Amino acid sequence: MIADIFKKLGLSDPVVLLAPLAGVTDNPFREVCAEMGASMTFVEMLSSAALVHQSRRTFDMMRRSFKVEGVPVGVQITGRNAEEIAEAARIIEEQDFDSLDLNMGCPVPKIVKNGGGSAILKDPTRVFEIVKAVRAVTGKPLSVKVRLGWDQTLINVLEVAAAVEDGGADWLTVHGRTRCDDYSEPVRLDLIAEVKSRRKIPIIGNGNIFSLADANLMIRETGVDGVMVARGSLGNPWIFREFRRKGGDGFYQLTPRDWCDGILRHIELQETEYEEREAQMVGAGIKRRFDGASLGALCMRKHLLWYSKGWPHSKKLRTSVSNVRNLKEAVENISVFSEELEKSGVSGRLPAISEERIEKRFVYNSKS
Ligand SMILES: Cc1cc2nc3c(=O)[nH]c(=O)nc-3n(C[C@H](O)[C@H](O)[C@H](O)COP(=O)(O)O)c2cc1C
Repeated sequence: MIADIFKKLGLSDPVVLLAPLAGVTDNPFREVCAEMGASMTFVEMLSSAALVHQSRRTFDMMRRSFKVEGVPVGVQITGRNAEEIAEAARIIEEQDFDSLDLNMGCPVPKIVKNGGGSAILKDPTRVFEIVKAVRAVTGKPLSVKVRLGWDQTLINVLEVAAAVEDGGADWLTVHGRTRCDDYSEPVRLDLIAEVKSRRKIPIIGNGNIFSLADANLMIRETGVDGVMVARGSLGNPWIFREFRRKGGDGFYQLTPRDWCDGILRHIELQETEYEEREAQMVGAGIKRRFDGASLGALCMRKHLLWYSKGWPHSKKLRTSVSNVRNLKEAVENISVFSEELEKSGVSGRLPAISEERIEKRFVYNSKS
């Protein structure tokens, strides 16, 4: 059953959110994922201080010119203290976004050194104060994204989740690792399940979702109200299509044609985005190092590299896409490669992580 707050946002079952991803979830990529079937998407984490100081770069990161009907977009912020974060929330209140998320999971040293991101988790009282201060200034749906705790000696997600609920948030996203864990650590579904069983607000589970089968396992083991996909979307926005496909087994094959069409759509959106950005900058008389077309290609390179993974004989493609100077070159590279795949009879690409490895990537009660 879908939680009321997600109904209010217009989401339907299953609730599958695109995570905020720094340097990735810009306007074009969010649009691609929304068109593929993501329930909701997020702008990457923004600094409250930068918002308060009206940083142009930060406002650029909030561009929202593409919109898929019925797919809301949230903004995520972090900051040093409750006053600063609430001040930033007041600014977001005026912006065209559907919800606000507070980042309490970012592990990056520059952020935690200043007391932001996952450093907030060390003190559940601070968690409560921040959520309460933001709740007082925002009418938007409010969520918080956390990890299990600081490290294996400080796993305090149950206390943190209580503080988030008491502070007045509408939902909580739990990434099932601590701040100090790296990605090789399995995701603790047992702890996400415990959070879910103790809280009234909806819980979204996050960590290691690379296929529908992973999501189904997380939902079955934890009872969460939805899942959030992060690295599983890199080079594979089709993952969201799989969630919308009735009767999928979780391991669909992406055909070369669908692959090519999806990337060409991303490139088209990228082109529009960077043409518009350039026009804005020219209009405002802002000096720029690169023109729109070159910048669009530079920012597309990492996506093209991710898209190229998993296909046979893709080494040459990877070298060429990592050097594309404009988006026309990118279109040529991708189109030629997909034709070669079809000619050589390659039928499809599977998700990067297979079912056999599920056991190693999650800790869950029914396993023991
Ligand atoms: C490139 C990259 C950028 C990220 N940026 C953010 C961010 O801006 N805000 C955030 O809350 N988490 C961020 N994360 C963490 C993810 O949202 C997610 O919580 C984490 O990767 C676990 O999910 P996964 O195992 O499915 O990747 C980032 C992760 C990656 C790989």
